[in-house]
Amino acid sequence: MVAVQKDYWYFLVLMMQLCFLKGSVQMKAPESKVKLQDGMILDCLCPWTGQLIMVSWTKKPLSNPVAVYHPQYGTNYESSYDGRVEFLKTTAMDGSISIMNVTEGDIGQYHCSLQSYPQGSWTKDTIVEKAAITTNFSIQPDTRLTATENDNLTITCDLVHNGDVYKVSIEKVDAEMGTSNIIATCQMLEDGVELREFNSRGQVNCSDAMEVSLHLTNIIQEDGGLYRCNFSTDAGVQSTTVLLATLPAQG
Ligand SMILES: *[C@@H]1O[C@H](CO)[C@@H](O)[C@H](O)[C@H]1NC(C)=O
Ligand SMILES: *[C@@H]1O[C@H](CO)[C@@H](O)[C@H](O)[C@H]1NC(C)=O
Ligand SMILES: *[C@@H]1O[C@H](CO)[C@@H](O)[C@H](O)[C@H]1NC(C)=O
Ligand SMILES: *[C@@H]1O[C@H](CO)[C@@H](O)[C@H](O)[C@H]1NC(C)=O
Ligand SMILES: *[C@@H]1O[C@H](CO)[C@@H](O)[C@H](O)[C@H]1NC(C)=O
Repeated sequence: MVAVQKDYWYFLVLMMQLCFLKGSVQMKAPESKVKLQDGMILDCLCPWTGQLIMVSWTKKPLSNPVAVYHPQYGTNYESSYDGRVEFLKTTAMDGSISIMNVTEGDIGQYHCSLQSYPQGSWTKDTIVEKAAITTNFSIQPDTRLTATENDNLTITCDLVHNGDVYKVSIEKVDAEMGTSNIIATCQMLEDGVELREFNSRGQVNCSDAMEVSLHLTNIIQEDGGLYRCNFSTDAGVQSTTVLLATLPAQG
């Protein structure tokens, strides 16, 4: 997007909010809480149908602007959030954002205000709380995926690897606790690929090309997190990571 003056877009946000305060419907969704975490999702999924006019995110108590999305003018971010915030846009009425490279400065109360036509304004507050255990913020997943609860999703690990792969493992990593749970391994044997599953959540497939996939049905919040696949090759172990973020089901 062409650089629009910051004060201009903030002015636009205020004007839009004022216009919508008059007249049309105002609906406030229940507040939610998330723990401060890299890639955390602040959800603002409006259940209405219609046309999205604009989404703006501000941070309380001073209602400082954070990010704005307008279908025609695009996105605009406050400088300290630029490059760290992404609008997820999983549906036409989705104003949810994710925030990367978080710091303690990101703790606080966020206000999402979504203007729609014809129904009016839909707002939701999200409180970002300090994580109970100090999180390791340095995790940079190779792939980021987003899924809505109750949906189905396949996580695939297809690393461009050097050397012949003789074993692949997939595990779920708990970065906070520094532990991991192995889900399955695929081992190349003379007569084909042998799959061993250790965890019943999801269905694992190993292809003859040693690509491993995990199919999750009816996703629950606990499915979110970091997955790691290790490819054991004659040139050593190579890993790839996938961060799955889950959004609450609509409605
Ligand atoms: C996040 O931090 C890492 C390491 O400091 C940096 O390489 C990366 O570009 C940052 N990403 C964003 C989106 O700011
Ligand atoms: C955080 O992760 C990095 C790289 O994965 C690691 O080097 C570091 O020791 C970790 N820090 C903590 C406190 O676990
Ligand atoms: C997910 O998969 C299950 C079982 O295959 C199916 O019953 C369900 O309808 C699927 N859900 C969605 C949202 O596609
Ligand atoms: C996984 O394997 C099963 C059985 O071999 C097959 O029916 C299914 O289509 C495979 N799924 C994927 C995603 O490849
Ligand atoms: C995968 O590789 C990582 C880093 O090399 C290692 O810490 C982890 O234990 C490995 N996982 C498995 C299941 O071998």
